[in-house]
Amino acid sequence: MECQIGVISGDGIGPEIVTEAKKVLDQIGKKYGHLFHYTDILMGGCSIDATGVPLTDDAIAAAKASDAVLMGSIGGNTSTSPWYQLAPELRPEAGLLKLRKSLNLFANLRPAYLYEELKAACPLRDDIIGTGFDMMIMRELTGGLYFGARKTEEVDGVTTATDTLTYNENEIRRIAKRGFDIAMKRRKKVTSVDKANVLDSSRLWRKIVEEVAKDYPEVTYEHMLVDNCAMQLVKDPKQFDVILTENMFGDILSDEASMVTGSIGMLSSASLNDTKFGLYEPSGGSAPDIAGKGIANPIATILSAAMMLRYTFDLDKEADAIENAVKQVLKEGYRTIDIMPQAGESTEGIEQVGTAKMGDLIAERV
Ligand code: NAD
Ligand code: IPM
Ligand code: MN
Repeated sequence: MECQIGVISGDGIGPEIVTEAKKVLDQIGKKYGHLFHYTDILMGGCSIDATGVPLTDDAIAAAKASDAVLMGSIGGNTSTSPWYQLAPELRPEAGLLKLRKSLNLFANLRPAYLYEELKAACPLRDDIIGTGFDMMIMRELTGGLYFGARKTEEVDGVTTATDTLTYNENEIRRIAKRGFDIAMKRRKKVTSVDKANVLDSSRLWRKIVEEVAKDYPEVTYEHMLVDNCAMQLVKDPKQFDVILTENMFGDILSDEASMVTGSIGMLSSASLNDTKFGLYEPSGGSAPDIAGKGIANPIATILSAAMMLRYTFDLDKEADAIENAVKQVLKEGYRTIDIMPQAGESTEGIEQVGTAKMGDLIAERV
């Protein structure tokens, strides 16, 4: 098979982790006889530096011309980077939001899965986590606070900033369907997360989810308020199968869920629309604190590449090969620094490795 893949390396650790994902893909290509063609696409801070804007029209066109886009991460240190002195629409993140919107990538799947081998990296006690933590966050990605009108203005001499949270019923319905569809292929449980005790948008969310649920009689579903959900993720994360939620809540809850898997460096993601196209990226950011040190965990990006093979190219066997290779490397005791055992856990048989070595090890085992 020939696959046209747009590649957004981005900023910070982005280029480091994308290099490793391409290494693994190329090995898959060799082994299974596929040709992966890569087209580099500029986005984020690097695009600002090169073109003055975080995402050019040419970059959007290049993404649209690809079968799928593999991405690292964008952005810099939001306190110190000069990128954050720019107007909001010129900052690195504006590029990512524009890309998601331009491609209508409304469904963001973030699988949080704890490899048995990484139990010692999970900060939760054994009796809480047990075995088999495996959940999916279905995050709405093109609506809500991220895309509502915003402004900063003087109101009676007081500087006032406004962000608006808007959802229409169609936006809710299509993501809810995706959530229930994926639950049907899993343990058939959906937890819809909202703040319906306060927000109108959440009350509409709940109403539409109720309607959609009627078409999925086999799926058990419940509503949960977001503050409780944040707490339950630490208290009893294994109660969840699919969490279905709006954009901002999904952003926050997915970072929280990532720690149950050991690290944000393990959390892959796929951003999908109604076609086979997808944008595949780790859920974490550009990690300015460790960029350039060669220690970032490339696994979330490598697992995102596996999601790309599965969802865009229907290459299930190849995706399985990547996931099994990751498992094998973890079983052999190799860890990047972020997934080293927590304090007090045994480090016997564990070897700390850097980004490139981790990529090599996984590529060798696919
Ligand atoms: P971050 O996710 O970049 O980093 C948070 C912490 O997690 C840091 O300590 C970092 O070192 C660690 N971390 C993240 N990924 C890691 C990995 N692969 N391996 C090991 N450790 C890892 O979040 P932040 O510091 O809040 O944000 C930094 C920048 O990243 C900001 O500009 C933000 O907007 C951007 N960001 C981009 C994306 C994206 O491109 N999709 C996602 C999240 C944040
Ligand atoms: C993510 C990131 C983005 C988001 C930022 C960089 C805009 O945090 O993909 O989780 O909030 O969606
Ligand atoms: Mn995030």
